[in-house]
Formats: sequence, C-alpha cells, structure tokens
Amino acid sequence: MNHDTPLELLGGLTASQFLRDYWQKKPLLIRQAFPDFQNPLEPDELAGLALEDEVESRIVLEHGAHPWELRRGPFNEDTFGNLPEKDWTLLVQAVDQFVPEVNSLLEPFRFLPTWRIDDVMVSYAAPGGGVGPHFDNYDVFLLQGHGRRTWKLGQMCDNQSPLLAHADLRILDGFEQADEFTLEPGDMLYLPPRLAHYGIAVDECMTYSVGFRAPSASEVLTHFTDFLGQFIPDEERYSDADALPAVDPGMIQQDALVRLKELIARHMNDDHLLLTWFGQFMTEPRYPELVNGEALPPQELLDALAEGAILIRNPSARMAWAEMDGYVTLFASGQSRLLAPELRELLKLLCSADALHQDNLQPWLEHDEAVVLIAQLIEQGSLGFAIDE
Ligand code: SIN
Ligand code: CO
Repeated sequence: MNHDTPLELLGGLTASQFLRDYWQKKPLLIRQAFPDFQNPLEPDELAGLALEDEVESRIVLEHGAHPWELRRGPFNEDTFGNLPEKDWTLLVQAVDQFVPEVNSLLEPFRFLPTWRIDDVMVSYAAPGGGVGPHFDNYDVFLLQGHGRRTWKLGQMCDNQSPLLAHADLRILDGFEQADEFTLEPGDMLYLPPRLAHYGIAVDECMTYSVGFRAPSASEVLTHFTDFLGQFIPDEERYSDADALPAVDPGMIQQDALVRLKELIARHMNDDHLLLTWFGQFMTEPRYPELVNGEALPPQELLDALAEGAILIRNPSARMAWAEMDGYVTLFASGQSRLLAPELRELLKLLCSADALHQDNLQPWLEHDEAVVLIAQLIEQGSLGFAIDE
C-alpha cells in the first residue's frame, strides 16, 4: 500500500500525515470520510443482535432507575417496547464478527496493523441518547451511520480525572468542553486515547465505533513474565557467587539489586520469546468459543479446493505474521507456528486475503508444509469453508 496517497477516509491526508500529526495525539473531524454512506445495518437488526446470547450488548438510560442506568444484554423482545421515547442508547460490541457488511468497514483502515484493531461497536440512540461524558483508553474512529449526533470534545484525562460515583460506568465528573461538531451519515471523528468526549443523539441515530486495542504496560509486564516463567528451569536461581562478606547481615545491599537486575535483563532481552509472546497475546480471540473447527485430512482439503470450495477467515479469529532471523512465524488465534522462510508469501496471503481458493492458493498446493498449515488452521477454526447461500 502506498502511504503517500491522499485518502478520502482521512479527509485528504495521507496515512503518513495522519499518523504523524493526529494518531494518538489529537482529534480529527473528517466530513464525508465515507461518501454516500449506505448504513449496513438497520436499527431493528442491531436490536436483533442484542437478543443473542453470544453477543455483548448494553443499554444506557440517562434517566433510568438511577442516573445513567446500565442494563446488560442479552435482551428480549419486550426490552425495546418498554424503553422511553428519549435519552437511551443501545450498544453492541464486535458487530464486525457477526455482520460481514460491518466487517467490510474495516477495509480502509488497513494502513494500521490489523492486530491493533479491537472491534466495531455499533450504537443506536433514541433522540437525546448518549453514554455521558467519558474518556476511553484507546483510539477510536466514530463513524456516523444514520441520523445525526453531536459530539462535544473536552479535556485530556488520566487516572486522576474525577469520575461520578457509579457502580458500572466511568462518567466524568467535570467536562471542559473545547469543541462541538454535529456529524451526519458518512462523517467520522477520530479521537486519541484519553480525550474526554460526549456524544448526544440529535435524532435517532447510529454510530459505528472502530476501536483499537493496546495492551496496558501492566498487562505487557505481567503476561510476558508469566510466559517467560514457563521456559526458566527451577534450578536457575538468584545467585551470589563471589559475594563479599555482608556489611550487616540484616541489610539488603545494593549488590543484591545489581544481581537481580542482571537476572531480569538476561530474560527480558530475548527477542524470540518476546515476539512469540506478543504475537500469541495479540491474536487471542475476543470470543474463543467462536473459534473452533474440525480435523480435515490434507487430501480432503485439496479435493475440496479442486471442487471449487472457498476458505474464509473466521471473523472471530485474529491472525498476524512476523519474520525473524530467517524464519517466519504465523500467529493465529493465540497460537504460533515457526515456519520455513519460503512460506513467507503464503503467510501474507493468509493474513490479508478475505477468501482463499484454488486460484490464489495454487502455488502452495504442491507444498506439503503449506497444505498441512492450512489444514491445521481449519482444524483450529481460524479458517473455515464459505457456506453456499
Ligand atoms: C456511542 O456510540 O454512543 C458511544 C461511543 C463512545 O463514546 O465511545
Ligand atoms: Co467513548
């Protein structure tokens, strides 16, 4: 992809300019980021998703049983009949995993690594509806899908920012409005992490939030060290060979800290383990129960492809690939596979192509390691056969 082409998605900025000046830094309003936007989902269809057990959904009522009442799905048919005319919002998480047309909205965001993408959350709000002034810890593109919504932008927040006393929601106690924009269908607003924002539906409206994910520093450290711990034998211990006699036997001396720091640094600097951990961690599916498949003998896979079968990536699976010291690694749904370097182009194809078939897989179908890999991904549930309509 050429990152120096002006993109409609970014209001005429190139990906490089956007990343340099806005990403993680400041908000950007893009009028008609998606020109002539066709809303891919009707409000009724969104409400239908919120009835499903495997779908995460919430309703926020500004004037409910208490201010900003949160109700958690799955809901039932009666839920929607009993809501007030105004001031509530339904939010449905990870709609991209359930609705292919919503998944397609992610296509133009490929100038960012796909492993940074979290999900597309879709909200439907009655007039006046919103979730209150708040901040999120991640980047988000808020695409207006239907109706109008006014977004008020406020201050940069941190973990000291005062919040309302609320059991479930993190609503800011104090919003310092700096900007206000009303978005129409196709308009989009990019917000960096921690910027206070407050969206209020002008009419009944729908918003598509393309949300990104970044592990917290605390998660990186705790998960990575847990992972590392599995490879370190119990025999490897704090060691003080060549220690000098203790100055005071009750004291922890500076030289102990030096030895500890050496022990930590020795393990922390292993790039192979860091990459393996990170790839596995970042490709863990959000809903592991939606990633499962069945064993398929490689010959049956070849026969199916020869008969025209099409393989598609499970929208609940995450995949990424990497290259280090002459080897390539494929990460799929939390697992890693170290592979021969000649599979590099296949890994790129697996991570990027929406559909795999006899034509684009042709050069690989002669290659045993490639066929076995594809069969394993099917067994894992990361890839599946497209079902004929
Ligand atoms: C919404 O769509 O109503 C909320 C999105 C957000 O503020 O993060
Ligand atoms: Co938000």
